Amino acid sequence: MEAVLTNLSITPFLVMDVMEKANALAAQGRSVIHLEVGEPDFDTPACVRAAAARAMAEGKTHYTHSLGVPELREAICEHYLTTYGVRGIDPEQILVTAGSSPALLIAMACLAGTGDEIVLTDPYYACYPNFIRVLGASPRFVPTGGGDRFQLDPQKVARARNASTKALVINSPANPTGVCLDEDHLRGLCSLGLPIISDEIYHGLVYTGEQHTILEYTDDAVVINGFSKAYAMTGWRLGWAVFPKGLVRTAQKIQQNLMICAPSLAQWAGIAALTEADPEVKRMKRVFAQRRLVMLREMAAHGLNVEVEPDGAFYVLVNMAHVTGDSYRLAMDILDNTGVGVTPGIDFGPGSERYIRFSYANSEANIREGVSRVAGYVGSL
Ligand SMILES: Cc1ncc(COP(=O)(O)O)c(C=O)c1O
Repeated sequence: MEAVLTNLSITPFLVMDVMEKANALAAQGRSVIHLEVGEPDFDTPACVRAAAARAMAEGKTHYTHSLGVPELREAICEHYLTTYGVRGIDPEQILVTAGSSPALLIAMACLAGTGDEIVLTDPYYACYPNFIRVLGASPRFVPTGGGDRFQLDPQKVARARNASTKALVINSPANPTGVCLDEDHLRGLCSLGLPIISDEIYHGLVYTGEQHTILEYTDDAVVINGFSKAYAMTGWRLGWAVFPKGLVRTAQKIQQNLMICAPSLAQWAGIAALTEADPEVKRMKRVFAQRRLVMLREMAAHGLNVEVEPDGAFYVLVNMAHVTGDSYRLAMDILDNTGVGVTPGIDFGPGSERYIRFSYANSEANIREGVSRVAGYVGSL
């Protein structure tokens, strides 16, 4: 039997290759430090776990409304008001999903199909082009670079756009750069009149400057967010999208057919996350902020080249152009020689082929030790 999907040239998620190899080395007794992973190392806040346990005991184990439990959708609307001052979002515009990943897929499916194009930055979050290809559409890349702080230039998007272009995906703070799009760029991108899919999954984890949702500037956007990162809930699979009123029924039909609804227990836990977990979420953010400083300090002390300091998320992109044109080989060599897992830049597109991504979702001690090992190895090349 042959998988037809291979015809769509779905690329592997290389960070998983690194992680699986790192785990295999650890199983052989090697000292391994994971600086490749893109997930918080914290447990989910206790109040969230308790809410899920209560929901379980109360038998809230059935299918929910396909858009999501109404109380959760109301809490999400309230979140936009209290966090960004954005009023007037209707709970009927919220689609609760099994993580932000299906929300991205559904948003793209609402906007593009066979033969269409969606504009992405390069570097980009590794999975975006694959979502687009599954839909029979094509990604059109617009390069961003360290010289312009990885800001996406609206003029470049305007030039890249053609009759087949149906949407633009932005991600702020971004994976893998950690950089936030500034207000001028956000406004400029909104002025293009192109539907925007704004992946805001790292909101709540911004350490320098302000975070802005795209909904502060336009209604013609689908916002993607979720609980995986800021709430340390990766395994719960809970996310959401805010759709413009004209699109939500289409999104709902896709969800009804493909997923039915998001997991019920996770949804009840999500209400507690939004309404009770704020002190714990702020504490985790403070820890990440401190780790960011530790990682940047250690990298500077060891001569690793961080072109652009990240504003948020938990990643630092390091330029390794002086030692490699092949980031996958380098990441595997670093792992073999130092026991430190790092992510090859090529996972995020040709624009970051000469970079390695480090994650600071690990303890300060491991960050110090990991950076020191990698710098020692790279220095020896
Ligand atoms: C930029 C970005 N978007 C979306 C996701 C998907 O997250 P989830 O499906 O867990 O919400 C990730 C995960 O790493 C990410 O980095």
